[in-house]
Amino acid sequence: MSAADFLPRWSDDLEERYSDLIARVGDSVPCLEWPLHLPWIDAIQQLKRERGAVIMAHSYQSPEIFHGVADVTGDSLALAQAAARTDAELIVICGVHFMAETAKILAPDRTVLIPDLEAGCSLASSITAEDVRALRAQHPGAPVVTYVNTSAAVKAESDACCTSANAVQVVEAMGADKVIFLPDKFLGSHVASCTDVELVLWNGRCEVHERFTGQQVRHTRERFEARVVAHPECPPDVLQEADFVGSTTAMGAWLQKEQPHRVALITECSMADNLRARFPEIEFVKPCNLCPHMKRITLPNIHACLRELRHPVEVPAATAARARIALQRMLEVGRQDRA
Ligand code: 13P
Ligand code: SF4
Repeated sequence: MSAADFLPRWSDDLEERYSDLIARVGDSVPCLEWPLHLPWIDAIQQLKRERGAVIMAHSYQSPEIFHGVADVTGDSLALAQAAARTDAELIVICGVHFMAETAKILAPDRTVLIPDLEAGCSLASSITAEDVRALRAQHPGAPVVTYVNTSAAVKAESDACCTSANAVQVVEAMGADKVIFLPDKFLGSHVASCTDVELVLWNGRCEVHERFTGQQVRHTRERFEARVVAHPECPPDVLQEADFVGSTTAMGAWLQKEQPHRVALITECSMADNLRARFPEIEFVKPCNLCPHMKRITLPNIHACLRELRHPVEVPAATAARARIALQRMLEVGRQDRA
């Protein structure tokens, strides 16, 4: 059966059966859209049970996916940790390709599927394994810390990986005066401002976060009297204006602690939609940009992915073995921090 052949049917009991979901998600999904989403959500839930699959969704997934079908949600670190410990034989990653590769490297015996193979990332495509080898030759002895937003081949050339949630800890755990930090220049300069370790940076950028400006943030703060939370992939003048800088999961933890009346999230658009369900009393101002790669994942292609077991993500064994060492080093830093 081709993807186009399957169309789930509306049934009158769907609204009643999913009334908790509709109430929880609130205005993040306009009420007119539920008749489109609910038949897909119901069909995916059924197929997921039949397949014994687990669906992991990044914080930037649309709310009907994040709240409607995901079993595990969170930032890149949370998804990597979940993949490393899941018992499920089948993992569907609702996120971008590097996240699915990370899951496959950490869970090599499981089948890892991504609904759209073209869901890439401007950071991951900014650097190759050859670039990393050239940087090592230019800075002999300096360890390489690589953001997870990279290909498996780049991870394989690295000493350790990090995410935006643990970059400072991983850099400091290397025990070196100088570290090559790749590939996000803005995350790198933010990390450099938090540590005495000298960082060699690469000119990679997130195409979503690089478009925010300090002026836009000042305007948002003054016009809406909002607290400002920004992702560390934003340019330095944006981060200087922010009340808090952190990963997508850390943003939720900050809101929980601070309970601001009104907040502007300077990050991908779906973040505010997804957090609004958790914090209905907070008013969200949305000066946000969409990630075109994250938005390639849809309810119909998640269903096709489960139905036809497409698209399995594979990483060559030798690359995976080396990349796993770098990823495990990152997970180990997290375990030591919690100990
Ligand atoms: P985190 O989920 O680690 O905050 O990263 C954001 C991001 O851009 C992932 O693509
Ligand atoms: Fe990559 Fe930026 Fe999209 Fe994240 S938001 S997947 S870093 S392009």
